[in-house]
Amino acid sequence: MEKKAEGEVVFRPMKLSDLPQIEIVENSSFSAPWPRQAFYNELVFNQFARYTVVTVDGKVAGYCGCWMILDEAHITNIAIHPDYRGRGLGEAILTYVMEMSRSLGACKMTLEVRVSNSIAQSLYEKLGFERSGVRPKYYTDNQEDAIIMWVTLNEQSKRNSITGN
Ligand SMILES: CC(C)(COP(=O)(O)OP(=O)(O)OC[C@H]1O[C@@H](n2cnc3c(N)ncnc32)[C@H](O)[C@@H]1OP(=O)(O)O)[C@@H](O)C(=O)NCCC(=O)NCCS
Repeated sequence: MEKKAEGEVVFRPMKLSDLPQIEIVENSSFSAPWPRQAFYNELVFNQFARYTVVTVDGKVAGYCGCWMILDEAHITNIAIHPDYRGRGLGEAILTYVMEMSRSLGACKMTLEVRVSNSIAQSLYEKLGFERSGVRPKYYTDNQEDAIIMWVTLNEQSKRNSITGN
């Protein structure tokens, strides 16, 4: 059965006024959440950063951050609030960011994911990301290894964002 978020789903750039809601998403999603100041710094000072939020009926349900560096896009983080998970929003926002990155000139996209995070790995593999290596003890909170993943951004990601497949 097709998963579909109820309500009006909108993707748009993150604004400073979103940060209180982003902090709630962040704190409910990660063992080592970024502080609000880290998002502020990304939005105000980092010329490479592009942060997208997904709203459902005007309420922030999640976000995805990305750095655009030449022809590479690097996902910094992605999270959906627990109340909104399992409805296709994580897949939808990542597909949106993949297409946005492609349209801004990126040819490929990379990210790191905890070895233990099988849910996120499943999402990334569904969207075509492949494992390319491991960064040992990448996460400083528990010394966990990161899996490095890459995907080529081509017409396929464009088709997916249009058809929802
Ligand atoms: C990872 C995350 C963003 C997924 O968001 P979501 O909106 O719940 O995911 P979707 O409903 O769009 O599901 C898309 C795919 O993700 C995977 N997935 C989602 N929930 C899953 C679950 N409970 N078990 C296994 N796979 C799951 C599946 O591959 C799914 O595709 P399918 O429905 O065809 O099986 C969300 O779980 C989250 O915010 N987790 C905490 C933060 C985090 O770990 N971020 C990643 C850091 S690298």
